[in-house]
Amino acid sequence: MEQKIQELRAAAQAEISGAADLKELDGVRVKFLGKKGELTSLLRGMNQVSAEDRPKIGKVVNEARAEIEKLIADKNSALKAAALQNKLASEKIDVTLPGRKVHCGHLHPLTLTLNRIKEIFIQMGYSVEEGPEVETDYFNFEALNLPKDHPARDMQDSFYITEEILLRTQTSPVQARTMQKNTGNAPIRMIAPGRVYRRDDFDASHSPMFHQVEGLVVDRGVTFGDLIGTLDFFCKQMFGENTNIRLRPSFFPFTSVSTECDCSCPICHGRDSNCKVCHGAGWLEILGAGEVHPKVLEMSGYSPSVVSGFAFGMGVERIAMIKYGIDDLRLFFENDLRFLNQF
Ligand code: PHE
Repeated sequence: MEQKIQELRAAAQAEISGAADLKELDGVRVKFLGKKGELTSLLRGMNQVSAEDRPKIGKVVNEARAEIEKLIADKNSALKAAALQNKLASEKIDVTLPGRKVHCGHLHPLTLTLNRIKEIFIQMGYSVEEGPEVETDYFNFEALNLPKDHPARDMQDSFYITEEILLRTQTSPVQARTMQKNTGNAPIRMIAPGRVYRRDDFDASHSPMFHQVEGLVVDRGVTFGDLIGTLDFFCKQMFGENTNIRLRPSFFPFTSVSTECDCSCPICHGRDSNCKVCHGAGWLEILGAGEVHPKVLEMSGYSPSVVSGFAFGMGVERIAMIKYGIDDLRLFFENDLRFLNQF
């Protein structure tokens, strides 16, 4: 009997250590320690053991049982630990891997430029006005001292919708609208950004739709000097402190002393004859401006003997091209991400 127990013990030991997983181990436990298990049936045979040997054999059986139980418990925790290790290894993540990039959109270069223009004038106390893109002939031309059949209407090829209605060719109608809204009250200090339309080709420097920012100041004692100071300040804010302006005489029907304003090339400062922005000229035309024509003031309810004013109109695309060194206007409208992502 004793020998049998020792054999059983050895067999159990071998099977326990050979168990590959928890299920197998449980099978081993049932086989040896279960109700119908081998050790249990051995115990049942105890009645055949002589009373004298019984305590001794009983002790051996109990020891064997305790040992098998302990082996099973140890193996159980070893298998569980191994399973956990496996799980951890298979679920391992490399926290040093770079994350997946979230693609975040951003503002269009024209919007960036327009925002900056607004910022510069708002800090000088200008309000921001709006006017309709589908405009009347009256506001687009007549109220700006361009009566019907005025030859200067040819300066801007227009998209007419009816005889009296067209797509505005400039933001200047917002000058007249703002003056009429203010019914003769000064001061006015406003800018008016927006889209304008002209029957132009679509090429590197033209587009049938583009953006302008109009400016208008009306008050007592406004001089041409105020206009120069304003334009100079604007250029320095927009393109950098070392930018200068240059004025050339020009003509607009709605300004009485009219000028075209250039700024010094902020890319090459006139030093590069191959500069792709100024092409070596060193100067870039950025806007038209002038003193508000007395007739324009009068037509919109202001007395030129009491107030005076200045106005200017700039192209946003042009300003953006200079600011970012872009040589083809079409890039703004093609929505090519290779271009847009650079801003
Ligand atoms: N409206 C003019 C243009 O589109 C620009 C301008 C505005 C000129 C205001 C003078 C004063 O060319």
